[in-house]
Amino acid sequence: MTLLQELESRLAAALTATLGEPATAAVTAAADLRFGDYQSNAAMVLAKQRKTNPRALAQEIIDQLELTGLATADIAGPGFINFRILPAAYAARTAALIRDPRLGVPATGAGKTVVVDFSAPNVAKPMHVGHIRSTIIGDSLARIASFLGFKVIADNHIGDWGTQFGMIIYGWNHFLDEAALAADPIAELVRVYRKVNALKEEPGVLDDCKAELVKLQAGDPQNLAIWQKCIEVSKNGLQKIYDRLDVKFDHWLGESYYNDRLPGLVEEFLEKGIARESNGAVCIFSDDTKPQEEDPFKVHKEEGWTDNPAIIRKADGGFLYATTDLATIQFRIDEWKADHVWYVVGVPQQLHFRQLFDAAARWGKTGDFKHIAFGSILGDDRKLMKTRSGDNVGLIEVLEEAVERAAKAIAEKNPDLQGEEAARIAETVGIGAVKFAELSQGRLTDYVFSWDRMLALQGDTAPYLQYSHVRIRSIFRKLDAPFDATAAEIHLNEDAEIHLARLLVRFGEVLPTILEDFRPNLLANYVLELARAFHSYFEACPVLKAEEPIRSSRLALCELTSRTLKQGLNLLGIDVPERM
Ligand code: ARG
Repeated sequence: MTLLQELESRLAAALTATLGEPATAAVTAAADLRFGDYQSNAAMVLAKQRKTNPRALAQEIIDQLELTGLATADIAGPGFINFRILPAAYAARTAALIRDPRLGVPATGAGKTVVVDFSAPNVAKPMHVGHIRSTIIGDSLARIASFLGFKVIADNHIGDWGTQFGMIIYGWNHFLDEAALAADPIAELVRVYRKVNALKEEPGVLDDCKAELVKLQAGDPQNLAIWQKCIEVSKNGLQKIYDRLDVKFDHWLGESYYNDRLPGLVEEFLEKGIARESNGAVCIFSDDTKPQEEDPFKVHKEEGWTDNPAIIRKADGGFLYATTDLATIQFRIDEWKADHVWYVVGVPQQLHFRQLFDAAARWGKTGDFKHIAFGSILGDDRKLMKTRSGDNVGLIEVLEEAVERAAKAIAEKNPDLQGEEAARIAETVGIGAVKFAELSQGRLTDYVFSWDRMLALQGDTAPYLQYSHVRIRSIFRKLDAPFDATAAEIHLNEDAEIHLARLLVRFGEVLPTILEDFRPNLLANYVLELARAFHSYFEACPVLKAEEPIRSSRLALCELTSRTLKQGLNLLGIDVPERM
């Protein structure tokens, strides 16, 4: 049980005793430590319902609270109950954490399966920075869910089937450079795609592209072979990026995987009356059973239909993104028994997912579906980020540049590091910096990308956190014998060490809250706060020079801090170097 849960259970007992009937109330971490560690507004809420004086009720509750050895409680303001945790209780909790491989994190996801749908670039189309956000946020959420005990299925739903293949096959036949394809398949396919795109106005080109697409869809062996080859080289190229980012998928069930299921699906939707024909196309119209305010997109029309239906079969018989996504939902629910499906996809697809979830519900596919949307990444000029040549910035360029800049910074700061080791550290620092810059932002805000800010050793950056970890580990390198933290007794006297313990104990409280609104930035903030608390502690409290038993107690706090920091960073997908 986390400390917060412990307080909630004590509070529930006190409320029940005061009111003479079972009652519970929430406890939250206090925003301002001057008022205590935790607080509850239970008395205010209950007093309002009962029309009594909140401060008097708070006092009655406090009189019933059994907090011996754990905390003290007092009343503040209009009737808040503030809890102050005793240093001895923090000491006991940290001692327990040192023995706990889960670092106090409850298994809130046990028994539940979640599919995380993230990254999902489109084959042969440039992978833009938006895909960075999806990849980094999705990977972090998958890691966090897995640590919280969920069974996580990471699925890369790549766009491997679609109208772009008409152009790609045409380009493949006319402009492909085999050597370039072997060297950098993704770049070559994008080049070919762009080249054809630029020729679209030339007489006949577009028709030829369409003809190639029709042949592919009809199963023409030659075009299927080209398509197959495109997918294969693209996957290999992507896999290299994912390896570099340390991002793992359990499956790559792209759009094409569901092709066979689409005709039957559309028929079923028609039969069940969930979809109907409109101008030759098969459409799903939002139903009109929900009140207007629940549905900001709703545009009322005669018949009660909206004017923006989801199309699942075009008049020419072609299937669409929405059709595939419905088949995908069915598969995930029926085959994988998913309880939750999280889609980490940019804000522009909001309407698509709203319609998708609505249609799935009417189809009887029940599950908790979430569109985890994110905003854009902007350049210094606050416009969409571009490369020097004016293109939208690709993922690789960002990674390359980050690692290059990290290598420069390392060479300046620590010239002792050389060769392979320096290169490895530059990779860890550069990629960590990109990930942290992403994850420390609220996902919905558009953020301005700044290399200097991202790679700074001070401030809210990954290098600062990685350096903090290096610094803690260096304490242990100075010891003559290995240190066994589990054997240490914890003594907390100084404010700085009490505060460090307070944060260590909160790790298990912070992690579950991230999934309430899918905000890895809460974890990013937490690790920053923890690192800052460590530096203050290390300044205020001598460790190696202290007398026993304080020395061992402080070393154990260092050990627990380094483990918590490393685990926290790991859940953000960020690795820590040994030296830097
Ligand atoms: N390929 C799509 C894109 O790049 C994202 C796919 C997201 N996943 C899904 N099931 N729709 O825009």
